[in-house]
Amino acid sequence: LPAYVFESGSDLARHVAHIVAGIIRERNALGQNAVLGLPTGSTPVGVYRELARMHQEEGLDLSGVITFNLDEYYGLTPDQLQSYHRWMHEQFFSKVNVRKENIYIPRGDVPLSRIDAYCREYEGEIERAGGIDLMILGIGGNGHIGFNEPFSVRNSRTRLCTLDPVTRRAAASDFFGEWNVPTQAITLGLGTIFDARKILLLALGEHKAGIIKELTEGAITPRVPASYLQEHGDAAVLVDAAAASKLT
Ligand code: F6R
Repeated sequence: LPAYVFESGSDLARHVAHIVAGIIRERNALGQNAVLGLPTGSTPVGVYRELARMHQEEGLDLSGVITFNLDEYYGLTPDQLQSYHRWMHEQFFSKVNVRKENIYIPRGDVPLSRIDAYCREYEGEIERAGGIDLMILGIGGNGHIGFNEPFSVRNSRTRLCTLDPVTRRAAASDFFGEWNVPTQAITLGLGTIFDARKILLLALGEHKAGIIKELTEGAITPRVPASYLQEHGDAAVLVDAAAASKLT
């Protein structure tokens, strides 16, 4: 799995935004939609900021972009403070011109009885869009991507999943205490993620150095769901110097 090391998080963000913008412009020129898979969390913030800048200052046109977010906490309504709907709106969608009808984020308030059908519909929308051109990923300290926790099935599709205690602990401050963190989420499956034509996994900071070492130098193992990326034909890992600090 190729790993590219950047001096700083902002260098990395500029580089990734440049790749995203390239795909968007290429598709715009052909009159086609660019289809992006998007994460939330601290890692992609700089990328969204840079894309918003490119939109505002350089006229990058996102009106043809279709986006699919990776995940959402189960039990949260879209307007709730910690929901990924709200986060995406504040960090990105409020600053660019992606059309409302082209934004897909799993809803956390779907009744349990409808979940399976809802997840199948979400997959159907991805297919209808023509599949994901570029999937941007962060990684959990335990190796999760989306909310596919360790030992998630390699071919899993979009579904309701249970959050690992490690993941709930990492989210504790957002929810004012670990006990408030939802226990479940809706996530794109590993199989769904690996269907993307191109995948960029980003990691920033020293606290990711251990898992980045395992991911790029270790074997493929169900214990580290991101390690399956080694089997993808067009996946790369982009890290800052701190996240690369344990690489040999
Ligand atoms: C969020 C997501 C998660 C995060 C991961 C890293 O949509 O899919 O897999 O990418 O938990 O989170 P941060 O970037 O906050 O360290």
